[in-house]
Amino acid sequence: MHGTCSACTPTDSDPDRKLETKVYTIKNPSSPDEDDLKMIAECGEIIKRGGLVAFPTETVYGLGGDALNEESSGRIYAAKGRPSDNPLIVHICEIPALEKIARDIPEEAYILAEKFWPGPLTMILKSSGSVPLKTTGGLDTVAVRMPSDKVALEFIKASGGFIAAPSANISGRPSPTKACYVLEDMDGRIDAVIDGGDNAIGLESTIIDLTDGSMQVLRPGYITNEKLGEALGRNIETDPALLDPSCKDRPKAPGMRYRHYAPKGQVHPVKGDPEKVLEHIRAKLSEAKAENKKTGVFCSKENAGKYDADVIRCAGSLDDAEAAAHFFYSALRDMDDENADIIFVENFTEHGFGEAFWNRLLKSAGSEWEEA
Ligand code: TXA
Ligand code: MG
Repeated sequence: MHGTCSACTPTDSDPDRKLETKVYTIKNPSSPDEDDLKMIAECGEIIKRGGLVAFPTETVYGLGGDALNEESSGRIYAAKGRPSDNPLIVHICEIPALEKIARDIPEEAYILAEKFWPGPLTMILKSSGSVPLKTTGGLDTVAVRMPSDKVALEFIKASGGFIAAPSANISGRPSPTKACYVLEDMDGRIDAVIDGGDNAIGLESTIIDLTDGSMQVLRPGYITNEKLGEALGRNIETDPALLDPSCKDRPKAPGMRYRHYAPKGQVHPVKGDPEKVLEHIRAKLSEAKAENKKTGVFCSKENAGKYDADVIRCAGSLDDAEAAAHFFYSALRDMDDENADIIFVENFTEHGFGEAFWNRLLKSAGSEWEEA
């Protein structure tokens, strides 16, 4: 290990400090071999010393620190430039670990853990008090997730079993779905990055609140309300504040209150009949060009050749929510790199996992969209 571990330099108030961020490249992310495990063990030691290590998960890259060490959590907030009232998810590598950090765990938590863990589901539970308030953003509840990514699981184990990890982006930037995006935001701010390749899903986990009987989804993700409802034998709804921006209540997950995931250019989602959407975006692109704006489009692969824009990024077909979600954040980062001023997005499906894609898309657009 070269450089200095962030734990050795008291720099909470100096997020721009220049650490030497070491990159550990995993050869076999789906089944880490002996060399890979050695590197992961080194990263575990960094965490135990109070340092910060970014690591892959099946959703997005996480910025990991020891969840039980409040100084580590303080460093995470500083490195991200994140408001300290926005709590961190605690990542575990085995179901029994739940009992150390949560209390009064309802039966539903075990049903969901058996069915969806390891995997892209985060549960909000009552905190046992062993996780510092710094990690839970001052709340008496705790967010817990057991990721399915093999490198993540080995890393959590090597680190002592409890890793606090928000997405590894600077606050307000799109979540990183590749190690190079982590470095764009975090180089010099953290001790190390474990490069385990591209994240499989590319959008953050589903969050369900199990602290009261309502069992609302606070952030939609790959595990849809339908799948949760099937497992629990009841109807599962999304926090109404996410669906209706004019709702009088604020979103229950503090992180969903901030404008997030936003590139520098203005994002314009366009809804309506696909043919009309195509014509609408083409017309808007000519208007923007006439005003000398740099233009971007995120569209279906079928329509990629039909637009005259400076930056065109495509996903799959309009009904393919998985591809739309997978390519969305990297498309937003490309739009920034190319300095796009105005970005149009086609009407990908809003059903199933499409609900999560639309949730992030509308957040990137400041909750506005256009009808074709
Ligand atoms: O897929 C993911 O969940 C990724 C990977 C790295 O695991 N992590 C992630 O973390 O997206 P972050 O910090 O970017 O988002 C966590 C969200 C925030 O909106 C936060 O407000 C919410 O979870 N959250 C955390 N603890 C909570 C709590 N006790 N009650 C309500 N919301 C909570
Ligand atoms: Mg995040």
